[in-house]
Amino acid sequence: MFIKRVSIIQNINIIPEPVLLNLSSGEFILTEETIIFSDQEIFKLSNYLKNHLISATGFNLAVKSIKEKNTNGTTVNLKLNDRKDKLGFEGYSIEVSSKDINITAPYPAGIFYGIQTLRQLLPPEIENDVRVEGIEWRIPCLKSQDFPRFSWRGYMLDEARHFHGKEIVKKMLDLMALLKLNKFHWHLTDDQGWRIEIMKYPKLIEIGSKREETQVGGFFSKKRDGIPHSGYYTQEDIKEIINYAKDRFIQIIPEIDLPGHTRAVLASFPNLSCKGYPFRVSTHWGIHKDVLCVGKEEVFEFIQNLLKEIIDLFPSNIVHIGGDEVLKVRWRECPDCQLRIKKEGLESEKELQTYFTNRVLGFLSKHEQKIILWNDALKKNLEEKPICQYWLRGKKDILEYLKKSGELIMSNFKYTYLDHSYTFTPLKLAYKFEPIPKDLEKMYHKQILGLEAPLWSEYIPNIKRLEWQTFPRLIAFAEIGWTPKIKKNFNSFQERLNKFLKRFDIIGINYANSRDIKTNVFKRLFKVFTLFKEQRGGI
Ligand code: ACM
Ligand code: ZN
Repeated sequence: MFIKRVSIIQNINIIPEPVLLNLSSGEFILTEETIIFSDQEIFKLSNYLKNHLISATGFNLAVKSIKEKNTNGTTVNLKLNDRKDKLGFEGYSIEVSSKDINITAPYPAGIFYGIQTLRQLLPPEIENDVRVEGIEWRIPCLKSQDFPRFSWRGYMLDEARHFHGKEIVKKMLDLMALLKLNKFHWHLTDDQGWRIEIMKYPKLIEIGSKREETQVGGFFSKKRDGIPHSGYYTQEDIKEIINYAKDRFIQIIPEIDLPGHTRAVLASFPNLSCKGYPFRVSTHWGIHKDVLCVGKEEVFEFIQNLLKEIIDLFPSNIVHIGGDEVLKVRWRECPDCQLRIKKEGLESEKELQTYFTNRVLGFLSKHEQKIILWNDALKKNLEEKPICQYWLRGKKDILEYLKKSGELIMSNFKYTYLDHSYTFTPLKLAYKFEPIPKDLEKMYHKQILGLEAPLWSEYIPNIKRLEWQTFPRLIAFAEIGWTPKIKKNFNSFQERLNKFLKRFDIIGINYANSRDIKTNVFKRLFKVFTLFKEQRGGI
């Protein structure tokens, strides 16, 4: 039988690039006799590894407690140690000799990331879900120590504009795990759809999860496709996905966008608006005038009941409450909102949003929740210290917030928005992204928790388009989030990426190819034009 001998150097192309990796001579060969040993507490991870190896190799590896270790054969050992200071919550070390592979870490998360590295040390064919004949499963001998640069390495998926569903979300969680990403921000509500079952308010699903049709033909188009769109997650679905993510060391952060981006709520409950007239779930994109009324007390009652269910459902104890792009026109015209402004001694409708945010923050902190909001809602007189997710404008505000010991997640519009065309944000520009603002004094660096790449899905009608917009840019963000800044190198990244993408070919991912992702300076001159023109969906 022909055995493929893959060159050893060719096998080392790990993304994200590890902190330290020293190759030595020799190699480990995984066979069906190899035994996986592990500490009792991380037995689940041994089984995860075994299951990952079984399809492509056909090896049904034995999994045993490390206490019973007594073998002359080859072994993979998963062991917890106490090197907390050095490796932190997510760090690990891996040592490969011709006889043993040792993955050690102070916490299970580190062991999990060590397994992901091991996966990338094996030939890409390991990703097959059917047995691959004629290959030897060789791993070069090496020593590596590895830990992330940032604790927040996120991906955001908008399911309101297009509902993608459980299987697609699980596939994305699997890919996030391979890339050592650890936060899945789930944008579940917006003007065009409400996607999460709330027991107390079934109308949010009966009405809010369905729209009659969808805008097509670009951002300025008046055309609609005439096709109804709907979809939502039951609370049981949500629990299933939370557990799936937990097994991959990914925390899920639900976003309930308030008080703007709420047309699906107003379609279900028009009494929560300023005007009170009937609404349809929106069929077009852009920023909408009708938002929650801040003058009416029943709005706060609704929000508290709703958030109570969210808190009970999501164990992460962290809720994103949006706060972006809130138009103030309705508040200006609404007697209830104006009365609130007067009674509370507020100066303007802008302060009315701060009043709103403070009440929601107050409720959530009383329930011991961490809170995130977009930087639009970051105002001087906030009564709590939410985590601010930065996307556009307001640079001065966020720098001031850091001085007041606020924390930030960086999602800069120019670099990290995955829905942008590759003309607007080519791969090279994405890879250039640096989460720490320029000239920021060192004492504030640790308040930059990390980065997150959002995929807004107005123009993402299906999985093919979703994958195409997301990859390979999300792979670049994974490296920015993990690898030390000093090791960042686009040429090296591109070389490793070319090999890494063989894994994606095998898994079956419709990533954008090298022609699509190239920088084109001439085309970029027309960037604003192309930003809208190219966003047509379609694949
Ligand atoms: C945003 O892109 N509206 C946060
Ligand atoms: Zn009002």
